[in-house]
Amino acid sequence: MAIPLRKLTGIVFLLFFCPPLSQPLMSSRCPSHESQALLLFKAALNDSNGYLSSWVNGTDCCTSWYGISCDDNTNHVVSVSLGIYQVTPGTTIPTCLANLSYLHSLDLYGHSFTGTIPTFLCLLTRLTVLDLSDNYLNGSIPSCLGNLASLSDLSLGNNQLSGRIPASLGSLSLLRELTLYNNQLSGTIPPSFAHLSSLTELSAYGNRFNETVSSLSLPPYLRTLYLSLHHYQSISETFFHNLTRLSSLYLSDCVLNISTTWIPPFDLSDLLLVSCMIDGEFPPWISTQISLERLVITNASLVGVIPSWLWETSPQLNYLDLSGNKLSGCIPSMWPSYMSILLLNDNLFSGNIHPNLGKLSNLNMLNLANNNITGVIPVSLSNCSHLKMLNLANNKITGVIPVSLSNSSFLIVLNLGNNSLEGSLPYEFSKLSELYSLVVHSNNLNGSFPSSIANCSKLQVLDIGNNLFEGQIPTLIGNISELKVLIMKENKFTGSIPLEIGQLKHLQILLLSSNHISGSIPHTIVFSQAMANESQNGFVLSTYISGPVYQDGLDMILKGTYQHYQYILSTLTSIDLSSNELEGKVPSNFGDLKGLRLLNLSMNNLNGTIPKSFGEMHQLDSLDLSRNHFSGQIPTELDSLSFLGSLDLSNNHLSGSIPQGKHMIGFGESSYSGNPNLWGCPLPRNCSWRQFVPSPPPIYINKIKKSTKYPWYAISLGLSFGMAFGGIISLIVIKISWRNEYFNKVDAILKFLFPWMKNLTL
Ligand SMILES: *[C@@H]1O[C@H](CO)[C@@H](O)[C@H](O)[C@H]1NC(C)=O
Ligand SMILES: *[C@@H]1O[C@H](CO)[C@@H](O)[C@H](O)[C@H]1NC(C)=O
Ligand SMILES: *[C@@H]1O[C@H](CO)[C@@H](O)[C@H](O)[C@H]1NC(C)=O
Ligand SMILES: *[C@@H]1O[C@H](CO)[C@@H](O)[C@H](O)[C@H]1NC(C)=O
Ligand SMILES: *[C@@H]1O[C@H](CO)[C@@H](O)[C@H](O)[C@H]1NC(C)=O
Ligand SMILES: *[C@@H]1O[C@H](CO)[C@@H](O)[C@H](O)[C@H]1NC(C)=O
Ligand SMILES: *[C@@H]1O[C@H](CO)[C@@H](O)[C@H](O)[C@H]1NC(C)=O
Ligand SMILES: *[C@@H]1O[C@H](CO)[C@@H](O)[C@H](O)[C@H]1NC(C)=O
Ligand SMILES: *[C@@H]1O[C@H](CO)[C@@H](O)[C@H](O)[C@H]1NC(C)=O
Ligand SMILES: *[C@@H]1O[C@H](CO)[C@@H](O)[C@H](O)[C@H]1NC(C)=O
Ligand SMILES: *[C@@H]1O[C@H](CO)[C@@H](O)[C@H](O)[C@H]1NC(C)=O
Repeated sequence: MAIPLRKLTGIVFLLFFCPPLSQPLMSSRCPSHESQALLLFKAALNDSNGYLSSWVNGTDCCTSWYGISCDDNTNHVVSVSLGIYQVTPGTTIPTCLANLSYLHSLDLYGHSFTGTIPTFLCLLTRLTVLDLSDNYLNGSIPSCLGNLASLSDLSLGNNQLSGRIPASLGSLSLLRELTLYNNQLSGTIPPSFAHLSSLTELSAYGNRFNETVSSLSLPPYLRTLYLSLHHYQSISETFFHNLTRLSSLYLSDCVLNISTTWIPPFDLSDLLLVSCMIDGEFPPWISTQISLERLVITNASLVGVIPSWLWETSPQLNYLDLSGNKLSGCIPSMWPSYMSILLLNDNLFSGNIHPNLGKLSNLNMLNLANNNITGVIPVSLSNCSHLKMLNLANNKITGVIPVSLSNSSFLIVLNLGNNSLEGSLPYEFSKLSELYSLVVHSNNLNGSFPSSIANCSKLQVLDIGNNLFEGQIPTLIGNISELKVLIMKENKFTGSIPLEIGQLKHLQILLLSSNHISGSIPHTIVFSQAMANESQNGFVLSTYISGPVYQDGLDMILKGTYQHYQYILSTLTSIDLSSNELEGKVPSNFGDLKGLRLLNLSMNNLNGTIPKSFGEMHQLDSLDLSRNHFSGQIPTELDSLSFLGSLDLSNNHLSGSIPQGKHMIGFGESSYSGNPNLWGCPLPRNCSWRQFVPSPPPIYINKIKKSTKYPWYAISLGLSFGMAFGGIISLIVIKISWRNEYFNKVDAILKFLFPWMKNLTL
């Protein structure tokens, strides 16, 4: 990475050039045209946070301006480095920087600049460090960057650059570090790179290179190579033939075609193979790598057992990620003693968790989720006092949750979901003051929910659904002030929903369905700011644990069927109180939850009218009020819910006419049935268009709604219905496109935040 020049140049010369302290500064060291250029730069940045408040016209930029360094002899500005700094969206790299012709180092990473890489940068020929990574720069890499003959560090990663890598970069004979990752570069690594004898670090993964492996010209003295290949090409031993100094290797999207007798020319400390198909046993050549500290082989279809030589040949191994393979057998009981991160999830491991794992005193993360592990959670695991993540979800683990786990006071994530655990949730978990996520859903846990958990003040995700918990929901739940996701569904909870739920300002998902909860819906429920906020900007709920990021998933009923979410978006806002014994009226201002997307109150004893304010929940995608005692008219305001894709008001005592707006009549008859005094389309009574066509159109409309992937299907149906339904159908088609747009937006945001998610679909 770039080292700011001011750290390198000593402060020795300062002694000679600083004026005596007793005298005021007679003149500014900083050349005027350079300070003026910097002031123009500041103006372009819109410094609303005041980070650059020290940049004042008339003061010396060399001595008092944040982020600026000057040469101690010539006084010219040689380095600009502001750290991560957000500019107003749409700002391009300001041309005034061209006047700083003595710059050695220019760090503009993380500034959110847009536009192309300006060619005036090619005139700053003294540059040794140019860091433009983490911006939104597009267009191609200017080939004139090859003129920057002093350049040793060029960072362009995490932008939207396209086109080919210019061959001219191959003439940067002093270049040591080149980072191009996560762009849209195509073509190949130019042959001229074979001459880059200073280049030790090349990071180019996450592009669209359509190179063939045989055409790759890799610099000879690489120590670090991060590369993703195109179309899972096959890589053989010859690829590595000249890379004798390699110590860090990351390859993705390839097929490793390497003989079992190969002895590599290098000794790696870091080996990361992501989605590189091996489709066989653990490659024997890895046993020749005696310096391994980090080994990642994921999604490679590895089969068989973890070989015992792994901890014999690489005693300093501390990071092992073999997730997403087909490894089987028991989880080994012996590990290198420095083991800190052990990720063996998504394999076919069986057998018990050996108590010896408790000896790994440096263990930070243990992920054994999605295997066939049986037996109990060994009490000894609590000896891993540095444990930050324990994920044993989706196995066949039995027995009780050891109380001693509460001694792992650094735990951030504890996920024991979907096992066969029984007994209670330990009261002592209140000691887990760092806990972010506590997930124990789908077990046979019973007893009351310990209110002591309220002391876990950092808890954001609490999922105890699908167990046998009973008793009341503790009022202290309102003290878990960071809570975003609260899932207690499918238990045996009784009593009412505590008013204190309104203290949870960040709550976005509240699932309490299928319990025996009574009383009325607390009026405080509308105080959740997270659900009141209409913001469209989604991010994935996640927490950072010593390297990898952990994301919670979620199972919930959506539109009648169980859906599994691999991650939870901040925009997934949901209240499900269905199938309880709730009574009374829905708070009239319930619609203040303007950001709510899913609301299910069905199968309760709620009465009164549907509040008009429901019409303000403009994000609502699914609304189920069925099987209650709602009465009165359906408020016409509901017709403004243009995102609504699923509506169920059936089996109530609603009366009068169904609002005949474009959205309300687009739902099927079943959305309204079971209300004897309700009439108007799409119900048969008083619906004029039903007289023309025997089969009711809403059935087809429902089909169309499901086929959002194929709008042409909707259009062709629309044509076949001709004039009678053209209007309705085309409205539905428009609705589909809105919905697609919405999901596309979320998708785009996700892909921006998590570039590796590019291949996932929502
Ligand atoms: C500068 O940023 C502030 C706060 O973000 C904003 O109100 C203002 O309009 C911006 N000014 C310009 C010129 O973009
Ligand atoms: C800084 O001050 C000088 C002299 O007062 C003035 O000429 C110049 O325009 C100012 N620069 C900026 C960027 O305001
Ligand atoms: C770069 O992005 C802007 C919008 O941000 C767009 O107008 C422009 O056409 C893009 N340029 C290239 C070369 O892709
Ligand atoms: C590689 O991609 C570029 C740009 O997309 C294209 O012009 C070129 O023909 C492709 N080359 C090969 C070998 O596919
Ligand atoms: C290895 O280096 C030799 C000599 O420089 C060269 O001829 C050969 O093509 C290189 N092999 C690979 C696979 O890059
Ligand atoms: C796993 O690798 C296969 C190709 O071997 C690829 O198609 C798939 O997308 C990868 N899966 C993930 C989750 O990266
Ligand atoms: C766990 O630690 C306790 C006390 O330090 C010790 O008695 C016990 O043997 C340890 N268990 C394991 C499996 O290391
Ligand atoms: C919870 O914290 C409070 C003070 O922060 C403390 O007095 C109380 O004993 C704690 N309760 C439990 C069960 O740990
Ligand atoms: C819970 O919150 C209330 C109100 O904020 C506070 O008075 C009380 O002390 C808290 N209780 C605990 C156990 O933290
Ligand atoms: C609402 O909840 C009930 C009971 O839990 C369920 O049967 C129904 O499918 C849900 N409605 C929707 C629209 O998901
Ligand atoms: C709807 O039908 C009811 C009886 O079925 C009738 O009394 C009422 O006048 C009709 N309303 C309209 C607007 O046609």
